[in-house]
Amino acid sequence: MGRNDDMDSIRRMSGLATPMALRVAVTLGLPDRLRDDNASAGELAAELAVAPVALELLLSHLATLGVVEPTPTGYRTTEYGANLCADADNGLVDLLHLDTAGGRAELAFVELAHSITTGRAAYPHRYGQEFWSDLADYSHLRESFDRQMTHRIREQIPQIVAGFDWSRFSTIVDVGGGQGSVLAAILAAHPRIHGHLVDLEPTATRARHVFSTHGLDGRTQITAGSFFDSLPAGADAYLLVDILHDWDDEHAHSIVNRCVEAAHPTGRVLVIEPVGGVRATSEFDLAMLVIFGGRERRIAEFRALTAPHGLVLDTITDLTDQRVLLEFRLTAD
Ligand SMILES: C[S@@+](CC[C@H](N)C(=O)[O-])C[C@H]1O[C@@H](n2cnc3c(N)ncnc32)[C@H](O)[C@@H]1O
Repeated sequence: MGRNDDMDSIRRMSGLATPMALRVAVTLGLPDRLRDDNASAGELAAELAVAPVALELLLSHLATLGVVEPTPTGYRTTEYGANLCADADNGLVDLLHLDTAGGRAELAFVELAHSITTGRAAYPHRYGQEFWSDLADYSHLRESFDRQMTHRIREQIPQIVAGFDWSRFSTIVDVGGGQGSVLAAILAAHPRIHGHLVDLEPTATRARHVFSTHGLDGRTQITAGSFFDSLPAGADAYLLVDILHDWDDEHAHSIVNRCVEAAHPTGRVLVIEPVGGVRATSEFDLAMLVIFGGRERRIAEFRALTAPHGLVLDTITDLTDQRVLLEFRLTAD
């Protein structure tokens, strides 16, 4: 590669125009609006109450990207651009729309320098309060986040169920289990296991519907509450799927401590995450820092996090191309 190619590639990687153009296009619903019916920038601007000249500039850049294409009377969405439509079922809208939890959180990257300087989340620096507080205050953000979480793990669930011997547990407490899709799949595959999901409202109530849909009412319990409070006691497995990476060390210690306090003496703490150095991408690692002040911990960091609570790392299972399962037992076991 020549020097000019290098410069071009760096400019392409660092330009903010395209990422923002895609986000604004999705937020305005342009891919949906232009899918079956082409329209001019003027017509669209009137419909959407936006500035016509500015919208033309945006559409023109979207045409450069191949998201829309010019027609004799305006623009229409291309097949490629249809990936950005609300019904594409690929999770993209929840990542890009500026008024979803994911889309909003990603913009905290503008404050990355704050995170690098302080080691703390950029999200509260940008928005005035933590991510989870925003979810509690704005139901549409919570709804979009729950949708995004359910979607992101959907295709990995069969490997999570098949890749580990769940049958040796009688009760699994899914700590921060979201809408329950992982626990439901494990229980559906293992008719003798009981499940107990802990998450905040209204997510906990949504999990109730998921369990009912799977015919699991008789084997599931739900606690609507915080995993910083006491967890359901006496189970033989405490499952943390993508939980610890959302938190700095102080909070992660509290969550681990709650699991250990509650666990049966022969119980296990099972962590499923994109472990650093094994399955985590550097980009996602930064996202955890910027949004939550967390990170994708490495194996050694997990040992350091859990050892003070009497946990020993027993097994490491490569579950999916994105996630690893770390099984911890209590030293007394
Ligand atoms: C990254 S999501 C993972 C959800 C689920 N484990 C999964 O893999 O789909 C993190 C979850 O932690 C929950 N959460 C955040 N703070 C919590 C708290 N203080 N108590 C209980 N759950 C909490 C969120 O509501 C969310 O469902």
